[in-house]
Amino acid sequence: MMNEDYNYLFKTVLIGDTGVGKTSIAEKFVDNEFNNNFETTIGVDFKAKIVESNDLKFKIQIWDTAGQEKFRSITKTYYRCADAIIVIFDLSNPDSFNLQGWINQIKILNENATIFLVGNKSDLNKEVTKEKALELANSNNINYIECSAKTSQNINKLFDEIIDMLYKEGLKNNTLKKREDIIEFKKKKTFFDKGCCN
Ligand code: GTP
Ligand code: MG
Repeated sequence: MMNEDYNYLFKTVLIGDTGVGKTSIAEKFVDNEFNNNFETTIGVDFKAKIVESNDLKFKIQIWDTAGQEKFRSITKTYYRCADAIIVIFDLSNPDSFNLQGWINQIKILNENATIFLVGNKSDLNKEVTKEKALELANSNNINYIECSAKTSQNINKLFDEIIDMLYKEGLKNNTLKKREDIIEFKKKKTFFDKGCCN
């Protein structure tokens, strides 16, 4: 395997309504590409990138879920494997900001996950104010950031902040997943055991 050298692994899951820009954020972060055409995600897509920070290498796995209602039961099964769950809405579309239900569900399915609220499409006219978004974030004790997959604004910053939070929490709770431990763990597993959690 090429370029598989890293110290720690973090698993992230992107969720939010169809069209908010989950796939676009993943593609900008991993491939530095942006596609103006809307190609809706079927089920769940996967991407990964290794990021260097403080002389350490972090492998970031991104599970990019489908926002369409009909896929909800599949996408929910990915919550429990996540270190961080990134809840995304479209700043230009107030309908996509109806997120308290999603956040409640995350808390039930994975009480240890770090949750991040993201307002995407900051390049468009804002229909959801920063005050409203911060109100939701603060009442749930989660972080908030605005970004644009189109202009790249805050895309790297979003993942840098997630890495920083997960690394600090992992150090504190002694839950960091080292590459060597993951390789050992995988050797012991059979093919049929392998899913998003390992
Ligand atoms: P599903 O896969 O159906 O859940 O949607 P998604 O959340 O993955 O949305 P996707 O990334 O496919 O983006 C939907 C549309 O919004 C596409 O046409 C993108 O080009 C556009 N888009 C995504 N991010 C931005 C952004 O930051 N600014 C603007 N102007 N358009 C964006
Ligand atoms: Mg998508």
